[in-house]
Amino acid sequence: MLRHRKKAIQTVKSLDAFPKTSEECIEKTTTGGTFSVLSLAVILWLMVMEMMYYLETSFTYTFIPDTKFSEKLKINVDITIAMPCRYVGADVLDMTGQQVMTFGSLDMEDTWWELDPDQRIHFDGMQQVNSYFREQFHSIHQLLWRSGYINIFGDFPRRRVTPSKEKDACHVVGTLEINKVAGNFHITAGKTIPLPRGHAHLAVFMDDKDYNFTHRINKLSFGDPAPGIVHPLEGDEEVAEKNLMSYQYFITVVPTYVSTYSYRGSTFQYSVSEQSREIAHDKNSHGTPGIFFKYDVSALRVNVHERHEPLLAFLTRLCGIIGGVMTCSGLMSSVVSLAVDCFTCRFFQRHSDKTETETTSQKTTTLLLATELLQTETQPLLTSTTITSNMVFVSDTPQSSPPES
Ligand SMILES: *[C@@H]1O[C@H](CO)[C@@H](O)[C@H](O)[C@H]1NC(C)=O
Repeated sequence: MLRHRKKAIQTVKSLDAFPKTSEECIEKTTTGGTFSVLSLAVILWLMVMEMMYYLETSFTYTFIPDTKFSEKLKINVDITIAMPCRYVGADVLDMTGQQVMTFGSLDMEDTWWELDPDQRIHFDGMQQVNSYFREQFHSIHQLLWRSGYINIFGDFPRRRVTPSKEKDACHVVGTLEINKVAGNFHITAGKTIPLPRGHAHLAVFMDDKDYNFTHRINKLSFGDPAPGIVHPLEGDEEVAEKNLMSYQYFITVVPTYVSTYSYRGSTFQYSVSEQSREIAHDKNSHGTPGIFFKYDVSALRVNVHERHEPLLAFLTRLCGIIGGVMTCSGLMSSVVSLAVDCFTCRFFQRHSDKTETETTSQKTTTLLLATELLQTETQPLLTSTTITSNMVFVSDTPQSSPPES
């Protein structure tokens, strides 16, 4: 048992990819130290940045076909028109031909067109911020979505100063439940009379001078309130110079699903283009004076998802930072220490020392080689002499033999 364990430990030991160097083999230099401190600072800085990036959330937008076919749509309205309420009617007509009364009804109350100072400040602020949102800073959306504020402008202040004159405007406010099909919400002159097919606005006791479609939109939104949705028509104010005016707003309602860390739910956004013209039959500009919101529903739904980066990706990046910075600083440290050595001539000194020893060793090798050469050269010489001596000997014999025979 014990033996087995020892063997296992040995095997694991032999697999060590980080062999330890003994203390005396480690050389510590000033350049190395400087680079260590620098790289530590860089690593810390990058880690803090990475941390901040990780804590930030990002938004993803996906578009999918809208499959909630039978869903109802709410239209939330808060509009003031510069005409007494007895002259105006507000209702919805859509492609289904449903009776106007079945959508619900809006509250209408007489009021003054002029806002009191507090209300004016609030409305102007709303107008400015909203025009800023819709024209320039689209990326502010993300901020709004993160914030989770549903009512960014706050409530409209109550009127404190009551004017002495008669009430000259109508405040139309409320919510209608409409079908998710193209339709037309409008405010025109005359009270609504339901008819078997559609409806009519009855305006018999009105003079042309009574018409004034000057209007102010405090609120116009679709669906349930949700954070981060900018309603482009809020803060809109149109003053009619002529009595018979037709204002048309062409609205595309986009179903939106918002899923952030502070809110989750579906709502609707809309985009709008507007058009206004004077109705003058003698100038060939026909139609009905009034304010028309012609809406249609987009077939695509937008999904907005707020998400964090995955923790694993964050950790991987941290490891990458530490490893990368250490390796690079190690490389740079060796390059710099080499450059420093060069600059202080230490490198040259060391180099010349080295060449000296090299030349001496070379000399000795040449010497050795020479002796070897000598040896190899002398050997054949020696043999040749023996040969010649042999020859001499051989040649000597015939020379001496003839006299003998
Ligand atoms: C309509 O009413 C507004 C506000 O009271 C006024 O400024 C404008 O001149 C009026 N327009 C007409 C054509 O009377």
